[in-house]
Amino acid sequence: MNMILLIILTYLIGSIPSGLWIGKLFYKTDIREHGSGNLGATNTFRILGKKAGIVVTLMDILKGTIATVLPTLAYFADSGIHPLIAGAIAVVGHMFPVFAKFRGGKAVATSAGVVLGYHWPIFIILFIAFILCLKVSKMVSFSSMFASVVAFVYAIIYTFFEQDYFLLIIITILAAFIFYRHRSNIVRIKAGTEPKVKWL
Ligand code: G3P
Repeated sequence: MNMILLIILTYLIGSIPSGLWIGKLFYKTDIREHGSGNLGATNTFRILGKKAGIVVTLMDILKGTIATVLPTLAYFADSGIHPLIAGAIAVVGHMFPVFAKFRGGKAVATSAGVVLGYHWPIFIILFIAFILCLKVSKMVSFSSMFASVVAFVYAIIYTFFEQDYFLLIIITILAAFIFYRHRSNIVRIKAGTEPKVKWL
């Protein structure tokens, strides 16, 4: 019973369409009709500005972190769900949100939240890798994919020493989600038309 409850709960948490709700509530804007059309933190920054962008980034990260921590709470102790599975379900919710006609984001911030909730040192490493790549490339999409490759390499090394096969499997799946959701960005990067940030 607890297993089903946890699966539903983590999917619903991931489904919270932060960018859509913040945009509609405070800016009377549906960010899916502007910019890249993506329901994510980057497009929120692009369309609604820094304040909304920071709030949506934090909310999307938090969704992954909360979902990952839930199975460790006493109430869900017998759910049989690994924290990383719970986090991955939240990422699925983020990509296909029931509250936004299943048109969600590209899995980046919520996946980062999963990593933060499970093993925070990777989060710090990925954050640094992301910022350094963004400074050089000026492309959030490219930096997101770069960070997911760094996560994959880290997971291989970590698993070699700690035998945490779950981490390697889930990071591989999340990285695959991220690349798959960035198909249109990859086309634009190749064509040299991907938007670049000006503020870094
Ligand atoms: O987090 C998504 C980001 O990597 C790309 O977003 O709006 O530029 O397609 P966007």
